[in-house]
Amino acid sequence: MTTPIERREALKAALAGIAALSIAPRARADQRPGAAAAARPKPFRVAHLTDIHIQPELRAADGLAAALAHIQSLDEPPQLLLTGGDHVMDSFGQDEARTKLQWELHAKVFQNGSSLPVGHCIGNHDVWGWNKGKSKTTGAEAKWGKAWALDQLGMGRSYHSFDAGGWHFVCLDSIAIDPKDPNGYLGALGEEQLDWLASDLRATPAATPVLVLSHIPILTVTGMLGAPEKDTNTYRCSGGIMHTDSAPIRKLFADHPNVKLALSGHTHRLDRVEFGGVTYLCNGAVCGNWWKGAHYECREGYAVLDLFPDGSFESRYIPYGWNAAPR
Ligand SMILES: [Fe+2]
Repeated sequence: MTTPIERREALKAALAGIAALSIAPRARADQRPGAAAAARPKPFRVAHLTDIHIQPELRAADGLAAALAHIQSLDEPPQLLLTGGDHVMDSFGQDEARTKLQWELHAKVFQNGSSLPVGHCIGNHDVWGWNKGKSKTTGAEAKWGKAWALDQLGMGRSYHSFDAGGWHFVCLDSIAIDPKDPNGYLGALGEEQLDWLASDLRATPAATPVLVLSHIPILTVTGMLGAPEKDTNTYRCSGGIMHTDSAPIRKLFADHPNVKLALSGHTHRLDRVEFGGVTYLCNGAVCGNWWKGAHYECREGYAVLDLFPDGSFESRYIPYGWNAAPR
C-alpha cells in the first residue's frame, strides 16, 4: 500500500513523462476532402471518469473494473485519467465502517485495474460526515469532512493544478457548506480558492491551453430539464446543482482566453454548453443511474478527450457496455 506522498510523487513522475512525450508529437494526415496531407500534431488523450459511486452492492466494483478495462482497450488508450468526484456511493451521511468499506473497494479496483496517472477532484458524496446525524459523527474525527477522501486519493489539498501533454489542468473543489444548512452543501469555491484560481490562471502562459475540472458544473443546462415551477413558470436550477459562483468563475475565464474546457459531472446527465469561448461538458456518470441502468440519456460511460496543442479538442462520451443487475 503506497502512502499519499508516494502516490503524489508517482503521479508527478508519470506526468513528467507525459509532458516529455508531448514534445515530439507524431503527425497524422489531414482528413479534409481535397486538402493536401498536412501535419497535425498528435493529440494528448485523456479519459474523464466521473461519478463512479462505488459500493459493495449492484456489482459496482465489477462495473468500475469493466470501465477501466474498456478505457485501456481503446485503439489509442488515454495517457491520463481524470476522475470527476463522487468516487464512493456516499460518505456524506454514512458511518465510519460503511465509508471505510467503500474507499477500500475504490482503492482495490484502481490498484488492480489501471496504472495510468490520475488527476482527481472530489465530489459531495466523497465528503465524510457533513450530515452529522446520518453519519453518526461529531466533526472531531480525524478523517471527518474532506480529509478521508484527500488521504485516499493522495491529494495534498482539495484543489490543485498540474501540466501534462502541453495543457494546464485545474482540478477544483466544488463542495462548500451551505450556510443555511450545516448538514448540506452548495456548489462554490469560496474566497480563498477563487483567489488561488485567479493566481493559477495568471501564472499559466497565455499560449498554454487550460482544462478546468470540477464536480459540480460551472455552467450546465442539465439542471433545467424538468418543467418550470407551476406557480411562477420559472425554471429553477439550484445552487446544489450548478456553481453558485458561476459568474465570477466565468469572469476569470473571460480574462484568460486560454481556458478552453470546463468538465463536470454531478448531474449524471450529458450536455455541451458553448459560452464565452469555453466549452462546458457535463460528462455523464460511470455508474449511470447509480448502478441501476441508464439515467435518462446517460448510459454508464466515460468521456474521451483528444487535446491538441493549439487549444482545440475533440470529445466523445463512450458507454462501456455495462448491463446493470436486475433490480
Ligand atoms: Fe454523483
